[in-house]
Amino acid sequence: MFETIEKLPADPILGLTAAFNEDSNPKKIDLSVGVYKDESGKTPIFAAVKRAEKLWLGEENTKVYIPPPGYPEFNTAMQPHILGAGHQALKENRVRSVMAPGGCGAVRVGAELLNRSRSGATIWVSKPTWNNHGPLLGSAGLKIKEYPYYSDKTHGVEADAMLSVLRKVGKSDIVLMHACCHNPTGADLSREDWQAVARLAQKQGFLPFVDCAYHGMAEGLEEDGYGARLLAESVPEMLIAYSCSKNFGLYRDRIGALLVVAADAGRADAGLTHVNNIARAMYSMPPAHGGAIVKTILGDRELYRVWKEELDGMRVRMNSLRALFADTLAKKKAPRDFSFVKSQRGLFSMLGLKKEQVQRLRKEFSVYIVESSRMNIAGISQKNIEYLTDSILAVL
Ligand SMILES: Cc1ncc(COP(=O)(O)O)c(C=O)c1O
Repeated sequence: MFETIEKLPADPILGLTAAFNEDSNPKKIDLSVGVYKDESGKTPIFAAVKRAEKLWLGEENTKVYIPPPGYPEFNTAMQPHILGAGHQALKENRVRSVMAPGGCGAVRVGAELLNRSRSGATIWVSKPTWNNHGPLLGSAGLKIKEYPYYSDKTHGVEADAMLSVLRKVGKSDIVLMHACCHNPTGADLSREDWQAVARLAQKQGFLPFVDCAYHGMAEGLEEDGYGARLLAESVPEMLIAYSCSKNFGLYRDRIGALLVVAADAGRADAGLTHVNNIARAMYSMPPAHGGAIVKTILGDRELYRVWKEELDGMRVRMNSLRALFADTLAKKKAPRDFSFVKSQRGLFSMLGLKKEQVQRLRKEFSVYIVESSRMNIAGISQKNIEYLTDSILAVL
């Protein structure tokens, strides 16, 4: 059987980690995979998570299967966490959610639900988008098209071009939006842009699918929920895929959530039966541990306070690294203006380097960034900033 299977090339991002690990240059810098790192280059476990784990270990008294949608307390806490307490859609009882194996699991189950509702439907994604959106959405059977999003010239969102394409998207299509910290560009929609998208979704009738993988890492938990909350108020139906990998630091525990917002309670219940049925055929029920930790944090005022403080600290640090990077290059009289990095948000920015320049960074300087010139901001530190900026200047 397997003689028909050819070896695949390494994953474009995960393959870089393997190459980085083998690199013997003591000055090497890994700015590839999207994980948060502290000043020492480590991806720390949140103190709130450690405390929640201790509590949970004392409380957990069985390893029997959890129900298919996951812990009920997780779902009842997660809905207002994402949509805001007292959101109209929650009052109208038209939101259902499930725990999912990470944001990827949530995106994939959501895509399967959409494909069940309308086989082979078209989903519009931003150009560019996270490089796993294609496989996750396409594997479910959805057809993928791109709307303009990012301008290489201004390093910002091309809102007019985006809206002029969305103006033609009809009611049998889906539009995928990044809630905040757009991956890979770091360029987010303004409130006015979100309002324009919401008006179009209302008028044209397309279904918004919001991917929220960095809640609290752009401007704050309230601010970063703006787009998803506005859309859930404006349209009868939408999906939200949520990841707890970055903002709770629970990467390997594989925890996320899928929210189904439907026109009424009956439709929402029907949607939930399909979500459970889809998950049953893929992995039966979600992993429990990450969900137990998140529900413990969201359900405990003091743990929540500690968690939020840690998340706020991460965000402030990333923004200061953005400034450090742009200001250092400006001080060194870089032939290009990198100040756009300061106004972008989240883990990523695209430096606008050519493929050959990215390769030179890796081969000559052991600086690892993704081929599109996407750089993980959190990999910058006070220790490596001089070497990093000198290396970039050398290849410009
Ligand atoms: C835009 C986006 N969506 C979803 C995810 C899914 O993350 P995970 O499956 O690790 O929770 C990521 C992670 O990198 C992401 O960047």
